[in-house]
Amino acid sequence: MVNLLALQSTVRTDYDRFFWILVIVCGSVATAIAVFLIYSAWRYRRRDPDELPSQVAVNVPAESLWIGIPCLIFIGMFLYGAKLYFDIERAPDNAEVVYVEAKQWMWKLQHENGIREINALHVPVGRAIRLEMISQDVIHSFYVPAFRIKQDVLPGRYTSIWFEVTKPGTYHLFCAEFCGTNHSQMRGWVYALEPGDYNRWLQQGGDEGSLADTGEKLFHQFACANCHHFAGHGPGPNLVGLYGSTVKLEDGSSTVADDAYLRRHILTPAGLTVEGFHSSIMPTYQGQLNEEELIALIAYIKSLGPRPPEGVGNPADNSANQSTPQLGATPPNQSPASLQSQGKQGGR
Ligand code: CUA
Repeated sequence: MVNLLALQSTVRTDYDRFFWILVIVCGSVATAIAVFLIYSAWRYRRRDPDELPSQVAVNVPAESLWIGIPCLIFIGMFLYGAKLYFDIERAPDNAEVVYVEAKQWMWKLQHENGIREINALHVPVGRAIRLEMISQDVIHSFYVPAFRIKQDVLPGRYTSIWFEVTKPGTYHLFCAEFCGTNHSQMRGWVYALEPGDYNRWLQQGGDEGSLADTGEKLFHQFACANCHHFAGHGPGPNLVGLYGSTVKLEDGSSTVADDAYLRRHILTPAGLTVEGFHSSIMPTYQGQLNEEELIALIAYIKSLGPRPPEGVGNPADNSANQSTPQLGATPPNQSPASLQSQGKQGGR
């Protein structure tokens, strides 16, 4: 039900409705109290210095009413607000991911197919877009007033927000957290295009290779493949199927292998290594990889797809996904996808 309502539009309609309900309810209550206060002060003023007020008995039904009714109204407002909060925080599962990197003083955006933009974001209308964001330096805040979304972008930690645009157009993007001298210059535009226009736009910038291709190059450049084999046993775990799965850690606890976990593990593996492997073998990459490279590496790990069913070493039906290497068919350093990208480079 939550998703149904959210999909009618961006959260804007719900958000605005909620805002005006709050303004009207709180405004009328405040006005009613003020008017009644002034009226009572005049109506029940002391007319004679010797006048004594009459005793007022407790009226239980009346008191229950004026405690009960506002209580219900405010609980209702809380529930509505909570529902809205979950709608805004939880992206639909099929949302398209765009990676956002904030730095003093610009927005760098990267689509999963590798297209990069600076201070501009092209998105299709009618599609949920989830932003995975991180900062290279200080705290920034991604703010698109027209969509009613705002989310802090933090150094060292991924944060995320989503939206779906219902009307083509050009919308202001701001940084909403003071981040230094040129904070006010840190702004850009979100271009919402009709799906057809968007596909045309996608085609004019695709030859840098996808984010996962870049990640695969880094994977070999940093010699990750020496330990993380795709066939047989290596010193490190096989990364196929890792993304999104629940992993058991050395200390017995478990966690979901999401972007945040992978990022932390690549940078400082101590304590995060999967049960059965040793964190001392995995070097730390703190200071060697920048946020952009981390995003690409994670995209590559994500592109490795789901783990093959038990006992199946070489799933043939993986060929549908171009960025998935054919596991086991070739040595890890020579996966078809890397050959492909090398071929592309050679051809240029
Ligand atoms: Cu970035 Cu203000």
